[in-house]
Amino acid sequence: MQGARATAPGKIILFGEHAVVYGQPAIAVPLRDVRASAVVTPGSVPGSVVLVAANLARTLVLRKTPDPNEHALVIAVRRLLDYFGQPIPPLQITLSSTIPIASGLGSGAAATAAVLRAVSLALGMPLSAETLNTLVYEIEKLHHGTPSGIDNTVVVYEQPVYFIRNQPIETFAFGQPIHMVVGDTGVASPTHLAVGDVRALRERQPEQTDALIREIGAIVQQARAAIGAGDVRQLGALALQNHALLRALTVSSPELERLVEAAMDAGAYGAKLSGGGRGGNMIAFVTPEMSSAVSDALAAAGAARVIRTVVG
Ligand code: MEV
Repeated sequence: MQGARATAPGKIILFGEHAVVYGQPAIAVPLRDVRASAVVTPGSVPGSVVLVAANLARTLVLRKTPDPNEHALVIAVRRLLDYFGQPIPPLQITLSSTIPIASGLGSGAAATAAVLRAVSLALGMPLSAETLNTLVYEIEKLHHGTPSGIDNTVVVYEQPVYFIRNQPIETFAFGQPIHMVVGDTGVASPTHLAVGDVRALRERQPEQTDALIREIGAIVQQARAAIGAGDVRQLGALALQNHALLRALTVSSPELERLVEAAMDAGAYGAKLSGGGRGGNMIAFVTPEMSSAVSDALAAAGAARVIRTVVG
């Protein structure tokens, strides 16, 4: 066994979250400013893998007999070893991450991807991106039942994607780099709760909810064209429309509204929540000149963390 290290980035959904669960397209990009990182070294306990997850403040152990309450990361490593047909090797995995947890930035998918990539490298059997993506998707299902697969896809391939559930992955070109400011409400919000509430809303009000979902899909198609044309002003306008539809799907929150409003007051072209909503992060579309005023305004409006980033 050799030592190994692997990383995976966070992700931001630019357009189409929630609707993507119901077959509409969505656009997401890797957020390279934050990453999960896994280091694998030889372990000292025979027949067990010890996983030290610094950001979860937990030490997890994988043993031969599965524990019924096994953590998803332990299940991930178990499934990887099963996939390779390998007995449990004595390994220590140290996981660290700068991606805030439960904040819509893909922390769970990135942690799983980094761990599985590092373990496969340590065992001398590097995984293809396709196999890694399938394994991470299986673990995403444990986290939230009906994930679309967009988070694992962006995090594993580390590329912008125009994503439609169960269809081949499509990447796309940017007309010019897009400047954004990402604002974290500081409110942790597990994706599965918001996804479950949208599902319940759809059961109660199928026609109205499906109409909102279709409208989001139409915005995503326009956004793809605007990205291709490098039209950030148009992207801003579409972001506001997408945000209003997400609010109608009940996944905004007072904190997200406050940050979106602060970004607009500071001159952003548009802003919206990003990811599952109810908390977590929002994004604002800006020019390079606007970026610092919008970032200051988000901090003044109570953002727990602000990231200025460029994608494309
Ligand atoms: C979560 O990052 C994105 C959602 O659309 C859920 C999913 O696609 O699985 C809310």
